[in-house]
Amino acid sequence: MKASQKAPLHVCVTGAAGNIGYALVFRLASGDCYGKDQPIVLHMLEIPTGMKALEGVAMELSDCAFPLLHGMVLTDDLNTGFDGVNQAFLVGSRPRTKDMNRADLIKANGPIFVGQGKAIAARAASDVRVIVVGNPCNTNALIAMHAAKGVSPDRFHAMTRLDENRAKAQIATKAGVLPGDVTNVGIWGNHSDTMYPDYVHAKIGGRPATEIIPEESWFQGDFLKTVATRGKAIIEARGASSAASAASAAIDHMAALSNGTPEGQFTSMGVCSDGQYGVPKGLIFSYPVAACNGEWKIVEGLEHGAFAQQKIAATTAELVSERETVADLLG
Ligand SMILES: NC(=O)c1ccc[n+]([C@@H]2O[C@H](COP(=O)([O-])OP(=O)(O)OC[C@H]3O[C@@H](n4cnc5c(N)ncnc54)[C@H](O)[C@@H]3O)[C@@H](O)[C@H]2O)c1
Repeated sequence: MKASQKAPLHVCVTGAAGNIGYALVFRLASGDCYGKDQPIVLHMLEIPTGMKALEGVAMELSDCAFPLLHGMVLTDDLNTGFDGVNQAFLVGSRPRTKDMNRADLIKANGPIFVGQGKAIAARAASDVRVIVVGNPCNTNALIAMHAAKGVSPDRFHAMTRLDENRAKAQIATKAGVLPGDVTNVGIWGNHSDTMYPDYVHAKIGGRPATEIIPEESWFQGDFLKTVATRGKAIIEARGASSAASAASAAIDHMAALSNGTPEGQFTSMGVCSDGQYGVPKGLIFSYPVAACNGEWKIVEGLEHGAFAQQKIAATTAELVSERETVADLLG
């Protein structure tokens, strides 16, 4: 089908003039997420102080003459931004400053996601799917999900695909294979340094990764530490936080949700728990999931040893505590 024959998807990116937004919108417009035959209309939402920079982003998008970019909406108004939107990337949020701890950040950003959740419920298309990238992304997704009355909770996701991609890259380098040979690396829990990258069920070329890398001490030591602290390492090296890799992971997540995961494989998504693996119901918790046509299912029946159980308990406790911190926003 020609690009002009499909109806355009309406895709919203919040914080579109920020670092991740700037990396994300060009890849969306070039067809990296929804395919080279799927036109899009980009809704780019900013705060008033970001609007001038956003105009510059729009000029550049226009100058790329992307055949798939059928329109742009630039706005600082939530209702306009989410009007008729099928796919929403909630990236914009307040960055953490030196004087803030994680709880301060949660409190500062929470209200943003109340407003956005309400606007999504009021204005988005009935098939809307939402990925929250802005940190703390699990708890921000929880807040948006609660605020979006009438929208099914399964539409709200938090992004842990960057952690998964980081873990795959570490395993590939260690094994001397290509990242594409590494599959089934599930991230469990929170997008924070408590998350657990499950190496036990990971595969390299279809074989257990632990058979090819028989060093449990590497997995439990350097591997885990590198994945958990990669964000900090990038800030130290680049002088700015990860942006292109975060945008790429957001595209991977939404493409997997739309196009599906290959048979027998899974990816990682922060989704609303229904109590699977003993996680309290209603938490936005990252699990291994299989996806198909916009729907997803948590992969069940994976067995965990004592190390994994202890890691999963710790990340669960952190998410429960974050939920308590924002209890007043979960009306
Ligand atoms: N989940 C992940 O794996 C992951 C990875 C990297 C970064 N992040 C998070 O993504 C977020 C964005 O990172 P960045 O580097 O692009 O930050 P940035 O500061 O460069 O950009 C944020 C943009 O959001 C805008 N913004 C702020 N509040 C907004 C609001 N209420 N509505 C709309 N726009 C708003 C700002 O004006 C700015 O342009 C941060 O919270 C960061 O911690 C998440």
